[in-house]
Amino acid sequence: MAKPTYQRPRGTYDIIPPDYETWRWLIETFERNSLNAGYARISTPVFESEQLYTRSVGDDTEVVTKEMYAFEDRSGNRLSLRPEGTAGIVRAYIENGLSNRPKPVKLYKIEPMFRYDRPQAGRYRQFYQAGVEVFGSAEPLIDAQVIALAARFLRQIGVDFSLQINSIGSAASRKTYIAKLRDYFQPHLKKLPELAQAQLASNPLRILDSKDKSLQKLIEGAPQIIDYLDKASAQAFQQVLEHLDHFGIEYDLNTRLVRGLDYYTGTLFEFWGSHQGMQNAIGGGGRYDGLVEQLGGRATPAAGFDLGLERLIAELQKKPSQIPTQKPQVYLVSIGDDAKAQAFLVEQQLLDAGISTVCELTRKNLADQLARAAKLGVEYALIIGKKELIDQTVIIKEMASSNQEVMPTAKLAAEMARRFSVT
Ligand code: HAM
Repeated sequence: MAKPTYQRPRGTYDIIPPDYETWRWLIETFERNSLNAGYARISTPVFESEQLYTRSVGDDTEVVTKEMYAFEDRSGNRLSLRPEGTAGIVRAYIENGLSNRPKPVKLYKIEPMFRYDRPQAGRYRQFYQAGVEVFGSAEPLIDAQVIALAARFLRQIGVDFSLQINSIGSAASRKTYIAKLRDYFQPHLKKLPELAQAQLASNPLRILDSKDKSLQKLIEGAPQIIDYLDKASAQAFQQVLEHLDHFGIEYDLNTRLVRGLDYYTGTLFEFWGSHQGMQNAIGGGGRYDGLVEQLGGRATPAAGFDLGLERLIAELQKKPSQIPTQKPQVYLVSIGDDAKAQAFLVEQQLLDAGISTVCELTRKNLADQLARAAKLGVEYALIIGKKELIDQTVIIKEMASSNQEVMPTAKLAAEMARRFSVT
């Protein structure tokens, strides 16, 4: 096939039928779980001021330094496509006065994100995240509840995962730890890649998150943050783990986990899929008790997570399909042109009544049309021939039993709605 004139941008993809069925199922399942747990949906713009991200995600993180789709608009405003969703939701929380609502304020979102990442399997430049944010409670129970929501969803859709968990403690304990890290990396300064050298000066924690292979050995030997937690942070983290034990959620204590975004405080976690490793994190999150204040709001503890939908779909593709597909409920069979016109009218009446209906522009014979109805998996074939047209009736054929009955056309839609319990 000749190359088409226009192609999608690198790192993006089209979702073509029937693939959206999987997406719809994931989104609906996530949505149902979130609503059940008392979360309300929020949606924020796809672009925000660039500064919102440099200040929250952090201006020396890889996400900001290498991956932002930042641009200037025609009025000279510096904007960026969102590389992640938490900063925008915090902005919206402050701007819309959501802090005045009863706490905790529980929000969920399902939105596209944009990162100028090197495209590869499971890594895209436009990708979808589904996640939650909870504002207004510092209780360790919240951390565990948020993790449990993600874990329940992953279990429901049948994705195998391991939960990796760590704590980076309060700002004070992090300060002591960062000083230790600086002492550890300093003697190796000359050998460090340029970015790591800059990070050593600005925030050595970032070095631990480096994807650079040449650094991995050095990173492995680095001091561990868990040994530098202050008493309150250590106690809070202990409680999170106890709640998880109580809920029966297994976890791996991963003292190397720092995550690539600056706003975290306390608990951090990632869900890893069956390809273990940071690149294959199917989701991540944690506490960010300082971010609301940092972005101009009142001091508000918060926690949340996001799951990468493409990575979940990749995990699901490794297993036999268990994704329910939407089937039409009835198929309209017609014989002859006049009956066809009547069938299209009946199709409109059935659609008005909320019945999922197929009526095709085919001139195939009765047997072929019935075969097509069987293939689509409908419960009823509704047959209109010459006689039915004159009598203003329809033959209802139940596909499973092959039983047939005759129904006045005027009563059909109501009868089908009753049988399919459409209200
Ligand atoms: P994150 O770890 O940067 O966290 O992203 C969450 C998930 O998004 C990742 O685990 C991964 O599954 C998916 N993801 C990230 N980058 C890509 C990519 N280029 N292509 C495909 N999938 C990707 C956050 O974004 C935080 N907002 C999570 C959070 C919410 N923390 C607190 N609240």
